[in-house]
Amino acid sequence: MKFNTKKFIKEKIAEIKKAAGYKKALVALSGGVDSTTCAFLAYRALGKNLIAVFLDSGLMRERDEKEVLKIGEMMEVPVKVARVSDKFFTALKGKIDPEEKRWAFRECFYQALAEIVKIEGASFLIQGTIAADIKETKRGIKTQHNVLEQIGIDPKKYGFSVIEPLKELYKPEVRAIAKALGLPKEVFERQPFPGPGLATRIVGEVTPERVRTERLASKIIEEELVNFKPFQCFAVLLFDRATGMVGGKRLLGEIVVIRSVESTDALTATPTKIPWLTLEKICQKITGEVPGVVKVLYDLTPKPPSTIEFI
Ligand code: XMP
Repeated sequence: MKFNTKKFIKEKIAEIKKAAGYKKALVALSGGVDSTTCAFLAYRALGKNLIAVFLDSGLMRERDEKEVLKIGEMMEVPVKVARVSDKFFTALKGKIDPEEKRWAFRECFYQALAEIVKIEGASFLIQGTIAADIKETKRGIKTQHNVLEQIGIDPKKYGFSVIEPLKELYKPEVRAIAKALGLPKEVFERQPFPGPGLATRIVGEVTPERVRTERLASKIIEEELVNFKPFQCFAVLLFDRATGMVGGKRLLGEIVVIRSVESTDALTATPTKIPWLTLEKICQKITGEVPGVVKVLYDLTPKPPSTIEFI
């Protein structure tokens, strides 16, 4: 049966109104299709009682903040920017285990939101958790940053109740809702971007310096693959060194992986068939323009047995 977007939107707006009443609610906007769709539904339900916030965790891409502020303008809700990167880098310092990093991120994320909720006098957090997030977390594949109640964590410990209007949907349906809400194509066709941001693309310790390297490499990959429109594409920084030769001298440098996949719902994925010449160009640009990188690899693994992100 065809998914009825109009009916879904009407029902969810009514549900959010009923749950929040006339109390204030906070939505954390990352600029991704899930949080943006969620914010638009919440705004239709709550109007001025909705507070939108962008957490500058230090782990977002360069353009994310600008895009979120633009979404705020479209929604006519000013977006507050919380500068909390120090907290995230402190929480992630020295952590190399993928799940430990995810738990540290999640705790820091909700602590930061708890502070804002308190300052703003809000009672609810409206979040864009989708069915795939819940499924992967419950199956123990990886702890997604935005799953609490479904794994027995009471959000009240952070001082709010959670409303999750998209929790039964998968990515294609969220995109359909975004389109039906009148959001621009750049939003509903946007590549998924994980809540823990670049932390999922840095194997080993996450430091501001390593984030800078990943960001520069990812920008090159995204630019070079823009016409292929992959489901997701990005750079991954490995936690090892390789021997390189720079200016005729040996340099122990970083290893970057190109990850680009095709998928519809992120539950399974296949690698993008990138032409050889494009791969060569990406490799030349990364080794030429990103300081410290001496090796570039292309990841050919589908999901399963791999996952899309590296941690
Ligand atoms: P994996 O790496 O499990 O990712 O194949 C599946 C999809 O989920 C995204 N992802 C996340 N999204 N919070 C999110 O909101 C997270 O903690 C998280 N981890 C992975 C990933 O980018 C892909 O689209």
